Amino acid sequence: MPEAGSACRRGSILGVPPPDPLPEPLPEPLPEPLPEPPFLAACRGGRPEHPPVWFMRQAGRSLPEYRRVREGTGMLEACARPDLVVEITLQPVRRHGVDAAILFSDIVVPLKAVGVDLDIVAGVGPVVASPVRDRAAVDRLRVLEDDDVPFIGDAVAELVERLGPTPLIGFAGAPFTLASYLVEGGPSKDHARTKALMYGDEATWHALMGRLAEITAAFLRVQVAAGAGAVQLFDSWVGTLSAADYARYVQPHSRAVLDAVGSVPRIHFGVGTGDLLHLMAEGADVVGVDWRIPLDEAARRIGPGRAVQGNLDPALLLAPWEVIAERTRQVLAAGRAASGHVFNLGHGVLPQTDPDVLTRLVDVVHQVEPE
Ligand code: CP3
Repeated sequence: MPEAGSACRRGSILGVPPPDPLPEPLPEPLPEPLPEPPFLAACRGGRPEHPPVWFMRQAGRSLPEYRRVREGTGMLEACARPDLVVEITLQPVRRHGVDAAILFSDIVVPLKAVGVDLDIVAGVGPVVASPVRDRAAVDRLRVLEDDDVPFIGDAVAELVERLGPTPLIGFAGAPFTLASYLVEGGPSKDHARTKALMYGDEATWHALMGRLAEITAAFLRVQVAAGAGAVQLFDSWVGTLSAADYARYVQPHSRAVLDAVGSVPRIHFGVGTGDLLHLMAEGADVVGVDWRIPLDEAARRIGPGRAVQGNLDPALLLAPWEVIAERTRQVLAAGRAASGHVFNLGHGVLPQTDPDVLTRLVDVVHQVEPE
């Protein structure tokens, strides 16, 4: 039906003058459209009113209130308790006023949930009782069902309600970084056993990576279904590979994970990945960059149409404030070369960081005017 006031109502039909127009009804008060949160706007390539900022490992480590609530509770036990996950996730949002929360959990939680015998040992990191080094061990790794991690959906749903407009970032470890813990049995500097399996038995390697991709995708889908507004895939240790090996042994599996969660912005992060950025960008909306490469150079390598996240060296936060402020300005200036910039560190907050420095850093980033 034509709209009131459109051309065919205005003309006279067969000489009959058109009726007087009816008085305009009073406009219904429409709800104000909520502005998109700055973090999500930047992920989608926009320039929000101030650059958004959050910090990897903002929950935990550096916060005294975190150490208090964790007293007497093991890391994996804490991750399985929605009340603790909610409280710890909210702590840095309350304290620093960051633009996004990240779920408090760990990359090994979904592995534990499918029955891998592992623990997080204080001062060491994740330790796996029986490392996965042959086909039989890979075949024993089962897929993740939603009801393996009921505490994740519960925590995310409550967080989304409590956070209001502040987005919650869900996360998972990427297949390569998870494979490294499973094959090595714990943290490793050279990832030699992982590479031995990768180069030495390609079929078993792809079977392992394929299964880990399924587990990771399922873990992220639980978080997105419960309301996470974005996800970050952490491939912390993949910088140990060349671009050619990344493309052959890792990329198809990480890509499958990213493709499985395409309904929210996807951040893809690794450390020492300067030579991999263009490959890690495929399937991602935002590429996380460590401190080794300036963001304008990173944006050039990644190409147009994707946002960047980063990239102040976490150790800089131990320097005098003037140094931090100067380097922060440099990061923000370099970030303008990209289609969208989410300010962050180049890796996680170091445990010895003064939390007041983080709060001050958030304020400085927020004072920057958009260009
Ligand atoms: O340090 C703390 O904040 C205390 C809680 C804690 C986490 N993981 C939280 C976490 C502890 C004790 C761990 C154990 C752990 N897991 C270690 C030991 C050393 C350490 O850093 O404390 C390691 C190396 C892992 C494995 C792991 N977990 C990796 C490689 C990643 C990806 C991010 C990274 O640092 O490269 C994680 C993710 C992780 N662990 C998160 C949290 C809250 C989520 C991401 C985030 O908050 O940014």
